Amino acid sequence: MPFPIHRPRRLRQTEAIRRLVRETSVTSDDLIFPLFVVGGDNVRSEIEAIPGSFYLSGRPLIKEAQKIADLGIPAVLLFGIPLESEKDENATSSYAPGGPIQKAVRAIKSAVPDLIVITDVCLCEYTSHRNCGILKGGQIDNDLTLDIIQRIALSHAEAGSDVIAPSAMMDGMVQGIRRILDDHSLYQTIIMPYAAKFASSLYGPFKKTTSSTPRILRNRTHQIDCANGNEALREAKADLDEGADILIVKPALMYLDIVYRVKQKYGLPVAAYNVSGEYSMLLAASEKKMIDKDAGILEVLTCIKRAGADLIITYFAKEAARLLNRANRF
Ligand code: PBG
Ligand code: ZN
Repeated sequence: MPFPIHRPRRLRQTEAIRRLVRETSVTSDDLIFPLFVVGGDNVRSEIEAIPGSFYLSGRPLIKEAQKIADLGIPAVLLFGIPLESEKDENATSSYAPGGPIQKAVRAIKSAVPDLIVITDVCLCEYTSHRNCGILKGGQIDNDLTLDIIQRIALSHAEAGSDVIAPSAMMDGMVQGIRRILDDHSLYQTIIMPYAAKFASSLYGPFKKTTSSTPRILRNRTHQIDCANGNEALREAKADLDEGADILIVKPALMYLDIVYRVKQKYGLPVAAYNVSGEYSMLLAASEKKMIDKDAGILEVLTCIKRAGADLIITYFAKEAARLLNRANRF
């Protein structure tokens, strides 16, 4: 018997063979691009903390949505950014039918109907104290917050949002939303909760972008401790039992074991959120010429998929789609 019997390098010898035996592939179909929607007419201003993303409204918003659809990206995830003067203790502007998000959903669905519109549902962008829920006795009150979450979700669905993505990590959130949507015959509206959302340092650039860093840090009372994998699985199970259609794990890269376990155990479509801090790390390293950006982007996305994610929410979506569309042409 000649030695060695197995020569794994045989299958790595040319790009064509490597492509032939590649186990995981990423396409633009897997990507979701976040958009930050503001009030006011025709705003387009680049976000300092997340270069490549813009505060948008009116015509520039529609143009961006069209561009995303043209790149073959199937979905956008909308975040609303109200003016400081519109915020109050109870986040009342979050469910106004004429609010920036509700208007944006209507405008995008009428101009680019095939683009899937997903809307983030949380209170932190809308509360004057910037917490993700309603405060009572100095604590976030779960059930008072649920009431507002239901109103927000209904206002988004009535505006035409295809997918409601609640991110507040309140107990009973998915069930509450499913119930109010079904009560209004919105049976087809998909619910994609942030099922396993960890208390993470990696949301920094996003928090800067939305001015939603809590004045009093209370995220640890609702987001999961990064030390706890089993607890994340119990959260995913609860959301599944309450009627979730797709489960989000967030952040992605340091939590790929969670992506893997959730996918293996429950089999539902899993979306991994490659968050703002993960984006910033690669961008900063590439600006310092420490890491090649294009190769880094493709590695990040491929590895997230290899772990079991079906969908990836990423600020790299536009760049990635360009790279992937080019790579698939030869
Ligand atoms: C909550 C929300 C946050 C992010 C997405 N939705 C902030 C938080 O949970 O504290 C973070 C996304 C990112 O960092 O890219 N509305
Ligand atoms: Zn929040």
